[in-house]
Amino acid sequence: MKVNWGVEVAGSGIGVPERVMTNEDWAQRLDTSDEWIVQRTGIRQRRWAAEHESTLTFAERASRAALAQAGVTAQDIDLIVCGTITPDHPLPSTSCELQAALGCGWVPAFDVVAACSGFVYAMITAAQYLVTGMSRCALVVGADCLTRVCDMEDRQSAILFGDGAGAVVLRPSASPETGILATRMGADGGRAMLIWVPAGGSREPASLRTVNERLHVMRMKGRDVYKFAVSQMQAVILDTARDAGVDLRDVNLLVPHQSNLRIIESACEKLGIPPERVFINIDRMGNTSAASVPIAFHEARAEGRLRRGDLALLVAFGAGLTWSSVLLRM
Ligand code: UT7
Repeated sequence: MKVNWGVEVAGSGIGVPERVMTNEDWAQRLDTSDEWIVQRTGIRQRRWAAEHESTLTFAERASRAALAQAGVTAQDIDLIVCGTITPDHPLPSTSCELQAALGCGWVPAFDVVAACSGFVYAMITAAQYLVTGMSRCALVVGADCLTRVCDMEDRQSAILFGDGAGAVVLRPSASPETGILATRMGADGGRAMLIWVPAGGSREPASLRTVNERLHVMRMKGRDVYKFAVSQMQAVILDTARDAGVDLRDVNLLVPHQSNLRIIESACEKLGIPPERVFINIDRMGNTSAASVPIAFHEARAEGRLRRGDLALLVAFGAGLTWSSVLLRM
């Protein structure tokens, strides 16, 4: 869908754990190696939450940094939307806990459950409140601690994930040229079981049996997700650029979900997008789920790889299966 919402990013920030988990550390715990992980995923290290840390820890840190950069206070925020699949508690939402932690007013606060697409889903959702005038200053967060739900004994998936959060403040665009130009969102619930957690919901509540049978950890069909990711990423990138009437060659920086370097490289090669126009931090961060795109987006801005007037294309995909994109004139 073509849009010109007049909504832009006024500030961004990240919050990531101090603790670094290298491939060598993994090789001490599981039958794997630095060579396999680097070759098959591009990951060299990831950040892990310490015991006393949680999704809210990083969401709060990222949010404070984004507020400071945007030059607004917690009291200026009139909407909070957080993409996460690892809230601190099943109830209430991370957004509600975040509202209290930051000292915001009693503003609307809710989570979006779209896995690795969560931040981009949340950004599109919040932007629409600005378009209708229901919000003038929204806080959008992507935060996850997937290390708390992934199967630490499954070498295929465990080595992929890291923890952290990224946040942005959305405001009405300062100029008619800047802001969100096009978005895409979609889902294929028919392939829900490619990445899922079997128990802990209303279908299979927690019990001694579900714990003993390890039904609370994530299961993933890696190969199938890989194939979906490569083809869907290409389609979403093409559709988003076409919606906005933008030539892909004019996109200054692609900021993709950092799932696997081979997925990103394969999709970009097929689309003719050169590596220098793609932001990569998976080597340092691993796959941080909903935090992946906002962390990459913030780092790209901080490194000067996105300047005023540039076109940025954020693209994500994940469990659900879900996908989403935002094309943004900085
Ligand atoms: O954010 C969205 C969520 N998920 C994803 O994006 C994941 C998408 N999928 C992937 O990134 C890849 O499928 C993986 C990285 C998960 C796996 O890579 P792959 O190239 O698809 O490997 P594979 O599963 O086809 O396994 C190839 C071999 C197997 O051994 P055999 O059967 O050929 O002897 C695996 O047992 O590699 C083995 N293997 C490993 N070996 C060493 C799987 N994981 C590991 C490991 N270390 N960590």
